[in-house]
Amino acid sequence: MIEKSKILTAIGIVVAVVISVYGIHQLYIQHEANRIDKFRKHAGFYVLKQDVNKTQDGGFVGFLSWKPGKKEQEEPLSPVIRELKVIFKVDGKNECQFKITDIEDSRFQLPYNEPFPFTKEQGQESKLERIFDYKVSQVGEQFYFELFRKSSGQTIFSTKDRPILFTDKYLEISTEMNEEMIFGLGDRRTDFQIKSGRYSFWNADAMWIDNGTPGKSIYGYHPMYLRREVIENNFHVTLFRNTYGLQVDYKQNQYLTYKTIGGNLDFKFFLGDSNPENAIKLYHNYVNGWILHPFWVQGFHQCRWGYKSSDQLMEVWDKYNSLQIPIDSLWSDIDYMYKYQDFTIDTERFNLTQMQTIYNLSNPQGVHWSSIIDVGISIEEEGAIKGQEMNIFIQSAKTKEPIIGTVWPGKTYFPDFNHPNSTEYWYEGFVNLTKYGLQQDGIWIDMNEYSNFVTGEVGKDESTLVNEIKTFFTSEKPNLPFNPLEVRRLDHRTLSLDAIHYSGDQAVLVNATKNYTITQYDMHNINGFGEGLATYKAAKRLGKKLTFILSRSSMFGSGRYVQHWNGDAFSTWEYLRLSIPSIMNFQMYGIPFVGDDICGLALDATAELCARWQQLGSLYPFSRNHNGDKYSPQEPYAFPKHPYVLSSTIKTLNVRYQLLKFYYHLFVKGNGLGTIFRPLFWEFPGDEQSYQHQFQFMLGDYLLASPVVYSGNTFTQKTKHCVYIPENSLFFDFYNYSPIQGGDHCFQVPFDAVVPMYIKSGKILHLQDRKNTLRSRFLDNRFTLLIALDENNESSGSILTINNYNEDDNIIQNCTEQQNCVANLSAKVNSKSGTEMEIEIKVNQAAASTNFQEIIVDKLIIVGIKKSESYKFKIIDMINNPFIINKDGSELNLQFDL
Ligand code: GLC
Repeated sequence: MIEKSKILTAIGIVVAVVISVYGIHQLYIQHEANRIDKFRKHAGFYVLKQDVNKTQDGGFVGFLSWKPGKKEQEEPLSPVIRELKVIFKVDGKNECQFKITDIEDSRFQLPYNEPFPFTKEQGQESKLERIFDYKVSQVGEQFYFELFRKSSGQTIFSTKDRPILFTDKYLEISTEMNEEMIFGLGDRRTDFQIKSGRYSFWNADAMWIDNGTPGKSIYGYHPMYLRREVIENNFHVTLFRNTYGLQVDYKQNQYLTYKTIGGNLDFKFFLGDSNPENAIKLYHNYVNGWILHPFWVQGFHQCRWGYKSSDQLMEVWDKYNSLQIPIDSLWSDIDYMYKYQDFTIDTERFNLTQMQTIYNLSNPQGVHWSSIIDVGISIEEEGAIKGQEMNIFIQSAKTKEPIIGTVWPGKTYFPDFNHPNSTEYWYEGFVNLTKYGLQQDGIWIDMNEYSNFVTGEVGKDESTLVNEIKTFFTSEKPNLPFNPLEVRRLDHRTLSLDAIHYSGDQAVLVNATKNYTITQYDMHNINGFGEGLATYKAAKRLGKKLTFILSRSSMFGSGRYVQHWNGDAFSTWEYLRLSIPSIMNFQMYGIPFVGDDICGLALDATAELCARWQQLGSLYPFSRNHNGDKYSPQEPYAFPKHPYVLSSTIKTLNVRYQLLKFYYHLFVKGNGLGTIFRPLFWEFPGDEQSYQHQFQFMLGDYLLASPVVYSGNTFTQKTKHCVYIPENSLFFDFYNYSPIQGGDHCFQVPFDAVVPMYIKSGKILHLQDRKNTLRSRFLDNRFTLLIALDENNESSGSILTINNYNEDDNIIQNCTEQQNCVANLSAKVNSKSGTEMEIEIKVNQAAASTNFQEIIVDKLIIVGIKKSESYKFKIIDMINNPFIINKDGSELNLQFDL
């Protein structure tokens, strides 16, 4: 009895302590927020000192001074900057910048040039044609700025009657919102249309779903949104060009407030039209466009954390080969390293001869090797000594030595990619890895937010365990007027904010101004970008032509150097579903080659979930099954009691490989700008219903896919599923060519199925009869044209005029450098007498007149041929007399019978 009461008392004490510790923490945070609120309540405002000076481009420059409020309270923790400069720049017809900064514009900020996003000069003429105008306050009046679209009068941005606060470490500005829809504000796993909420921007490990409850960190910093305007339904993009910790407080139909802890109030606006793609392309152009991946990367990938030996890799590889599952790359997670140390291989567990067999690409069954590199360098590895010699680690403000955190290998140092030696250091790391005689084709950079298992840092002698989370009271309290995460410290599971970065004038990323010491506080959200850039440079130096660098962390502008996956996912239906809007988001952010962990990383995937995820994932731009350590196997063959997982995976990957060149061609054609994996409303912005269907998507403007994303009946092994086809549109089933028109269509989809998919009328799609090709490099140059006619019996599309997708040089020379490897196709079907018909196909090579390599069309599938009020299709086999597309101009005229 006594024992029991003692135990209860002890439990009581522990609970009380935990509650009060938590309570004090909350109170502290609350206290800081209140100080700002109180200050704001009685604070003054900025006024224009004199009329703004108009500039030649149609913009202005003005000066603001702070007019204190009569009852103004003690300032929040950081002093108000009382004199400011305001700049409005017209950058082109559709593009402008609005910026408030200190008079000298001397605060820490991203430079306005490479490698960062910058405005591309558009010439005076374009500026004169600007489609927007502004209003600005009168002298003496509370300062405001309004940007509006000339044609409709629609407000794009208006700070009228809303406070602007500009202190050293707390800046706030708001814009009016009105019957809008907004998308973006990422990166976060959430519904595609952003709901009211408080959204934090602070890079760190982020496995959660975030619908606007504070405290959620993110992997990548993309403070942009795409907005549909209410008047005339045009779209525009607003980028908050800042990199500091930020919170966006959004109240639909009312306001959107930015609260940041540094930098400037710097905005870029991109005004498109009623097609969202146009606003996004302007944005992509600003963020320097996105990079093209090598063709093999378009294939399927198998990964898991937990392939602990080359024997295990062999087993997976053998299974894939014997079961004839298409695959292009078998990955290595951290398991391959010696004690989780970067740029090493544990050759005891990973037999190099075995590895060389699996990854030998001259062997028809060989696959590409993609492997992980974490950003933290174990303090025990050789790289730690070298890094200290080269002085490239972020320094602890406390010890003045490299800051120590904890990641997979235990204690680690962290490279400072702002340091001039860091590029060389990082390159040499990759050179080390080549010494094992293996070619690392895909580079996976992880934990690069930077993620850390302790909060802030640990001492050299302090013991820590991997995954031990040190709490609030073990290091200094955050000295911040505002915490964008509200309920979580900013250094939670990342580095101390006062850690020191290189601040000299040889900086790789950002130079400091005026003896300013750059700290982690300034650089934090740029770290991932910095590592991506250094990795890109290393890959190039190692001779890679087209690079594939899969980065978890990113920032606006990262797409110029890296590709991305959505980070850790739970093996649940909700995560499966939300992978779709997340991929759509990254299209907007300018990293369109993106995927999610198929079947989920954490928790055991059920057979049904995994089958549906394989189906959906086979249509992701980046298609990789990835599992966490310790969870039950989830390779497509790992569910022997549920054979449908394997059979539907094979079917659906066969579809992916049939479409592989088509899918890749969408990227080549995009030429670094625009989206590939699109929301439905992208193609049908006038169709209100299509905004509600965030789990359907389009590949380019060709295919509409409607994956099954809910669990079904395990007894019948079917799921009731509804497909929405936008009003007044016509599609054809990709598999059986039957027409499907606007509205909802419900039917049962067996577990053992492929994704319901439809081709849009008016499009010509090229696909391939794979003949069981299991690697992308063995796909031939013979195509089938799937021609879906519109109401005028016409159709159009495009195709690449290269016959070798496997040589990066070929793609670079013919496609990315000169952009002349895309030929346009058009087709028209005419009725002759009776059942006789005729099809004319033309290839317009205007854009592809040089280096035109021969490609062969040996089959036509013509769908949507209208005959007595119904739609017919016709398959024409031309295997013996194919249609050759080459530089001599190609035209096909063919009679057929219906
Ligand atoms: C991180 C990555 C995950 C990887 C794991 C081990 O959690 O997001 O994909 O498997 O680290 O390296």
